[in-house]
Formats: sequence, C-alpha cells, structure tokens
Amino acid sequence: MNIKNVATTPFTDQKPGTSGLRKSVPVFQQTNYLENFIQSIFATLEGYKGKTLVIGGDGRYYNREAIQTIIKMAVAAGFGRLLVGQGGLLSTPAVSCVIRKHHAFGGIVLSASHNPGGPTGDFGIKYNIGNGGPAPEKVTDAIYEYSQTVTYYPIAEVGDVDLDTLGTTQLHDTVVEIIDPVADYAELMEQLFDFDQIRDLFATGFRMRFDAMHAINGPYAQEILVKRLAAPADTVMNGTPLPDFGGGHPDPNLTYAHELVEVMNGDNPPSFGAASDGDGDRNMVLGSHFFVTPSDSLAVLAANATLVPGYRGGLAGIARSMPTSQAPDRVAEQLGIKCFETPTGWKFFGNLLDAGEATLCGEESFGTGSNHVREKDGLWAVLFWLNLLAVRRESVATIVRDHWQKFGRNIYSRHDYDEIDNDSAQVLMAGLREQLTSLPGAQFDGYRVAYSDDFSYKDPIDSSVSTAQGIRIGFNDGSRIVFRLSGTGTKGATLRVYLERFEPDEKKQDQDAQQALADLIAIADRIAGIRRLTGRDQPTVIT
Ligand code: G1P
Ligand code: ZN
Repeated sequence: MNIKNVATTPFTDQKPGTSGLRKSVPVFQQTNYLENFIQSIFATLEGYKGKTLVIGGDGRYYNREAIQTIIKMAVAAGFGRLLVGQGGLLSTPAVSCVIRKHHAFGGIVLSASHNPGGPTGDFGIKYNIGNGGPAPEKVTDAIYEYSQTVTYYPIAEVGDVDLDTLGTTQLHDTVVEIIDPVADYAELMEQLFDFDQIRDLFATGFRMRFDAMHAINGPYAQEILVKRLAAPADTVMNGTPLPDFGGGHPDPNLTYAHELVEVMNGDNPPSFGAASDGDGDRNMVLGSHFFVTPSDSLAVLAANATLVPGYRGGLAGIARSMPTSQAPDRVAEQLGIKCFETPTGWKFFGNLLDAGEATLCGEESFGTGSNHVREKDGLWAVLFWLNLLAVRRESVATIVRDHWQKFGRNIYSRHDYDEIDNDSAQVLMAGLREQLTSLPGAQFDGYRVAYSDDFSYKDPIDSSVSTAQGIRIGFNDGSRIVFRLSGTGTKGATLRVYLERFEPDEKKQDQDAQQALADLIAIADRIAGIRRLTGRDQPTVIT
C-alpha cells in the first residue's frame, strides 16, 4: 500500500475556538482544508505511533466523507488502531468514554455541536487527548501554529472503509475497528446509576419524553431509556439522526426544542422532559410546566448526589464556568467543599477532574457532567435526574422549589444577540473595558456596583493563565451582569449577556425570571449600549 505526500498551502483561518475548529460546510469542503487541519493535529502530537485513535461524529452533513479522509491520514501517520463508531457515529461523551476505556492516545470528534447542519450548515473538528477531554489551549495553539506553515500531508492510497459493518480491517500497519457506538457508553451509565430503581419508576406508569432533535443521542436514548430501562415506547422523539437535523437547530433550549416544550407545557404532560444537542453533550431538563435552568440543575444534582450510586461517597468539589449562576457555590458551601470558577468551555474542567479536585462540573449553556468522562454529557444528566426522581418520587418542580427554599434562588437568564456586526461587537466590548475602573461605586436604580473586571483565570493545577474571559459587573446585593463574545459562532459576532439576582425570600422565589431581572436587563443596556451599538431591540435567544 502506498503513502502519498500531497503538497498544500496554509489557510489563515484554522484557529480553534471555544470548542475546536468550527466553520461552515463549504469552508471545510475546500480542497485540502480538512486535510491541512488533520495534518496539523497529527504533526503536533508526539509518541502516538502504534497507539489507538478514536474517531466519530454526530452524523451531520460531511461526517462520512471527513471520516474516510481522516482514516486514510491516520493510517499514513502510523496509528496502530483506529476505533471508529459504526456509521461514523459517536456522541461527544461517548468518544470521551471510549478513549478512557480503551486507553487510546486521543480522539477526533466531528461535530459543530448545537450549530445547524446540512450542505450550508456548520461542521467542526475537535481533538481530544488521552484523558478523554478536549485538548487544552497549549495543544490547540500548537495545532494552529503548525497550520500556518503546513506544506504537505501524507495520506494512504486505499479505498473507503465500510463504516456500517462492525468488525476489523487491516490497512497497512493499522487495524481499523468499527465499534458499536452505544455499548461502552451504556455500560458506563449502568455502573453510575441505579437502573433497577429507574425501571421500578417506569413500572409505576411514570412518563417521560426525550427529544433527541434528530441528532446523535437518538440511538443512545433508545437503547438506554427504552431498551434497558423499559421506558414507554413513545419516550424518544425525533430519535433518528439526520445529516441536517431535520432542518432544525439542534440546541436543547426553550427556543429550539419547542416541540418538546409544547408537549411539556400542554395538557396532561409527562412528568419529565429532556433534550440534548447535535453531539449529545448538552441537556435541557423540564418538569411538567416547569423549566430547570442549567445552573439550578447543577446545584440540585450536587445537593442530591449521594442518592445516586456513582456519587454515594460524596463530592470532592464542584466546578462551574464563570457565567454560570452562583447557585452551585451555595451548595458547595453547605457541603464544605470547594467550588471552582473557570472560564467558559469544558476544556478548563479537565485538570480539576484529573486532579480529583472536582467531581461535578457545569455550564449555564446546558452543559453538565462529572468525572466519569472528560466532556459534558447530556444523557448522563438525564439519567442522573431520573435516578433522583426514582429515589425521591417527587415532581421536578417540587425538587427544585424545595432546593430554592433551602439554598435561596439565584434567578438567572442569558440573552444572546446573534450575528451582530463584528466591528460593533468589538466597540461594545472595548467600551465596557474602558469603564472597568470607573464603574465600582456607581449607582444604578438602587444597585451599586461592587466590582467590575475582565475575568482572568489561573489554573490551580498547571498554573496556566487565561485572560480576557468576559466582563463581570457585580453589585452589592450579589447580583451580576456578565458580558462576553461567543467563541463558537461562525457568522458575525454573538454577544452573550448573563444576568443573575439572588432571591432568599421563599415567597418571592416563584417569579418569572425576565420580570425579576428587568432592572438588571435595563442596567446592562445602559452600561454597554447594546441597543445603540448593535441596532437590536431584543435578544435573538433568551435562555
Ligand atoms: C458556548 C457556550 C459554552 C460551551 C461552548 C461549547 O461557547 O457558551 O459554555 O462550552 O459553547 O458547547 P461560546 O459560544 O459562548 O463561546
Ligand atoms: Zn454539543
């Protein structure tokens, strides 16, 4: 078999963002675009010859073509074994699980997560390291640097691999193994949760609805919820993964998972509703006529963790991304454990999990996970909730309200302004940075600014420093406004505004978040000039 060296020239735009390299499909389809980036990954790694690489994606448009190319390049690079999900499919948490279980050198995930797919939609590539988690910044920086000088890439001259049939093929010095995408992951879930107890819950007539949004988690939910946990047959909706997610936006929030939201807010709704995103790492949790914010979800899971077998021994610590509400901090305080505040992006949790400093992690962006893998994990969060519901036999709303009574409620919302003009976004952020020194002490309708900064983080394990991670404005009553620009968008800029207010009074806790946060929403506009600079009256998405 021949290994061919193909000459190429660099693309200037291959800098990975919050979560890998994410571009529209036509960008990825340019000659050598994908190959250059894969070559930059392999050229940056050391000591992988003869080792195992895991490959899989969320099934979006271009997944199969990309996987064939990556297999041929991985053979040329000298990997010993490739574990490829059947049909080219593997959810992001399943990649993490498979890397860890099979002691792989690393893995490549093909996904643009919650971004829409299809011929003009988005595609993405992420490299995960041997702990199963996203490559840290020093690795992604090195990949980018290499991509700027790449001159050729080696590729094996072989035919396409049959991705649909389980089994192994020898290509040159590499064994290519097509694996069941669900098996290892399902086995791990059985170790963490009390499947008998959850089966008992379903046996009482308990009904739930899981919206897979025509994305990767359909087969996982079908196997675990319906087959292994005996949930009713109509539990999984939109369960078939489609290359364009059925034309939808595979992001599990109140806006895009509207089909599920209608079911859960309709007549005679099921007791529990959940959804996950394109690559299966995000989750949304709903009760009947009740929405659980991701920040509250993390706090509730932490407070109840010892009810679940995998966490019976208690938590070492909790970690949350900076814009996530401070609800988990209150739980950590009561449990006498640490709560870490990290920059946005799951990669910042890796070191804390590896060092055993944190057990549960979460982000306000519908991401929750634990030390069982090194990615956030949508179905895991759903099973955790199911396990709690099976133990407590109370409604989702009762569990959350009970939590608020005990800990107080951090009323929370995020406002996204999508696809705004890049320059205006930069002007807005620069304007905020200019105010950082003058804001403390300023008074806005009874709210006094206690501090304002541009968040910077020193990793407690490896002491690496990440600066300019978002503008925080804190008020004297504990309220907060955070501003940052998205690092995952592919069109224009996305401004995210995160709003939070603490409500200790039980009688005032059951209010609508937008109303409760109305003052802060107005203050955010006054400080940042959102309307003036973006020309928008309203956020595109409110979560
Ligand atoms: C967004 C979320 C962030 C998450 C990331 C990947 O990044 O805000 O929490 O880790 O997607 O799912 P952003 O677009 O804000 O940079
Ligand atoms: Zn995702």
